[in-house]
Amino acid sequence: MPDYAVVIEDLWYSYPASKEPVLKGINLKIREGEFLAIMGRTGAGKTTLCLTLNGIIPHVMLGKKKGKVRIYDRDTDEYTVPEMVDLVGMVFQDPEAQIIGMTVESDVAFGPENLGLSEEEIHRRIERSLEIVRLKGFEERFPFTLSGGQKQRLAIASTLALEPKVLVLDEPTSELDPVGKEEVFKVIDEMKEKLNLTIIMVSHDSERVASFADRVVVLDNGEIVMEGPPEDVFIRREELLTHGVRPPEVVELEARLREKGISVEPTLDVNEMVSRLAMLLEKRGVPSLPQRAAQVSGSGSAEESEEELVIKVEGLWHIYPGGVEALKGIDLEIRRGEFVALIGQNGSGKTTLVKHFNGLLKPTKGVVYVKGIDTRTATVAELARHVGYVFQNPDHQLFAETVREEIMFGLVNLGVPEGEREERMKMALKAVGLEGFEDSYVFSLGKGQRQKLATASVMA
Ligand SMILES: Nc1ncnc2c1ncn2[C@@H]1O[C@H](COP(=O)(O)OP(=O)(O)O)[C@@H](O)[C@H]1O
Ligand SMILES: [Mg+2]
Repeated sequence: MPDYAVVIEDLWYSYPASKEPVLKGINLKIREGEFLAIMGRTGAGKTTLCLTLNGIIPHVMLGKKKGKVRIYDRDTDEYTVPEMVDLVGMVFQDPEAQIIGMTVESDVAFGPENLGLSEEEIHRRIERSLEIVRLKGFEERFPFTLSGGQKQRLAIASTLALEPKVLVLDEPTSELDPVGKEEVFKVIDEMKEKLNLTIIMVSHDSERVASFADRVVVLDNGEIVMEGPPEDVFIRREELLTHGVRPPEVVELEARLREKGISVEPTLDVNEMVSRLAMLLEKRGVPSLPQRAAQVSGSGSAEESEEELVIKVEGLWHIYPGGVEALKGIDLEIRRGEFVALIGQNGSGKTTLVKHFNGLLKPTKGVVYVKGIDTRTATVAELARHVGYVFQNPDHQLFAETVREEIMFGLVNLGVPEGEREERMKMALKAVGLEGFEDSYVFSLGKGQRQKLATASVMA
């Protein structure tokens, strides 16, 4: 039994069409049972690297490959893709593209049937896989009626049914809504606990990667540029930014506070950050501190102030379609001139809360006032006059994740009818040479591309 599940030695690769190599001398060893996250900007080579792990490169994608990729004792030069399916499973970004069955059950059965397993064994694998991704009871469903998160869990189940030892996931949550993302991450996290799988996952979700990965590798321009446990990699903020990786929000917060002369020792642990901040506030005496940090679910420690109330949140609940209670009775007041940091674990509701300030979401229960305007009745355009500027600095626009979201945000604000938005976005992207980048992460873009995006946002 080898020590490593995956051994990559001096791997170089060029696509048939590429002018220069896309992977340039990758060396990487991945232990059995390890959870490795691969990060990096769009075009860094993450997907290409994934494709070398099950033999798509070099057997399906020809091009020029040099160096070794070994999964356990199988050298991918010698084993074709079908000969690797029982060892390496792959899950891609687009869940729909991976569905082949007319029912959930037949989709999961497809792989094992092709392995020529017995009825009994096939049945056992279907049960087990659906159990792991929590889709038991969905056997007879038509897959296209599932939610995004469920579809992606189905894709994972169908892959698991082949009982691979190595699971490769290439941005499995990037096309999902927040609820779907959460579901998929939960399932992956559980798999890590229960199965002795080696998991390799490409993701832009710094917070989640920080909390579940054993090790992080950052690729840039075909090379490994950062590598180590999350607690080492993620506090190197400047370096992350150089390589197009968004630092976790706690790290970003620490940097912002430092700019303002407040130093808190960096940590990736949100709860720890909250208690360090609380201690700091106490030591300094809150009233003398020009900036205050408020916790989303905090006790509303804002003391009386004469400054104008800009945002007032009263008993705010937000329940997403599907029943997820994202906000449960938030009370919060924000006054003119305040610097307020919303911090909390992923999925704690920060984005949901902020989207109530500009009317992108409406309260399920409770009220949000922006400069006295009740957001339940105000239009997004009306609110944009008061709130828009808060988000205009791209560095503060923490909630626009993808290029699409970034541009749509502006279009919605301007009151552009829904039917026209897609076209206007496409035209603007084309004009600045960012065609096809709709679903790229803003943080994964290069600096030049981000400037183009800023131009496109204004043009659209
Ligand atoms: N089929 C292909 N033919 C030629 N070049 C490609 C192909 N697929 C990707 N590339 C190029 O290879 C580089 C790495 O792409 P990719 O591995 O998809 O990056 P990532 O997944 O990190 O965004 C990019 O420059 C991209 O344009
Ligand atoms: Mg990719």
